[in-house]
Amino acid sequence: MKTSRRKFIENSLKATVITTIGSPVILNAAAILNSNSNMERTTSEMKKMSAIQFSQIALPYAYNALEPSIDSMTMDIHYNKHHAAYIKNVNDAIAAENISFTTEKDFFANASKLSAKAKNNGGGSWNHNFFWQVMAPSAGGAPTGKIAEALGGAFGSFDKFKEQFTQAAMTRFGSGWAWLVDEGGKLKIGSTPNQDNPMMDVSELKGTPLLGLDVWEHAYYLKYQNKRNEYVANWWSVVNWNEVAKRLG
Ligand SMILES: [Fe+2]
Repeated sequence: MKTSRRKFIENSLKATVITTIGSPVILNAAAILNSNSNMERTTSEMKKMSAIQFSQIALPYAYNALEPSIDSMTMDIHYNKHHAAYIKNVNDAIAAENISFTTEKDFFANASKLSAKAKNNGGGSWNHNFFWQVMAPSAGGAPTGKIAEALGGAFGSFDKFKEQFTQAAMTRFGSGWAWLVDEGGKLKIGSTPNQDNPMMDVSELKGTPLLGLDVWEHAYYLKYQNKRNEYVANWWSVVNWNEVAKRLG
């Protein structure tokens, strides 16, 4: 009785061990058989999962908040049509072209290797997210604190900075952006064509954007028609110097 009971227990234990280790062995064998196709699929899926995706920030104020400098209808169309289209199009391009850059920095630093669709819409996505943030209602005027000191040090005075920035905005032929950038601790003013920005390797103007102004006609035509000078002059009333100062570092 004793011997047969022990045998029963031993056999039960063996069966349990075989059952327990049986499944993983079978799964591992299947994985090995399919290892090549699995690895390819996993690599491609990981690339897709970690590739950069652009998203549109929530507008930090109401469509009419920047009136009279920027009218409500222009803000609505600019944000919901133009900007939203850049976001959709760049994400479509990233998926369709299997673009694997994982950070904005790498994406723009390799702009010369991107398709026109990815570069233009990527720039449009980032530039507008930036633009909405460097504007605010009840803002503008002359800055104070460290940004005032930095502008004075780099350009002589705030008025001289304003004059040079306005000139950059006015002389950008066709569509583009005027920028104040920080290039290795040195403040510079310049402009870029289309949706290029100073983080792109293709841009002549290089640096970290501190302030940007959209001078595409879609940014002002409804209210100002061809009068870009009036749009630029009124835009100074909505510049969010607190945001510019934050980016100064
Ligand atoms: Fe725009």
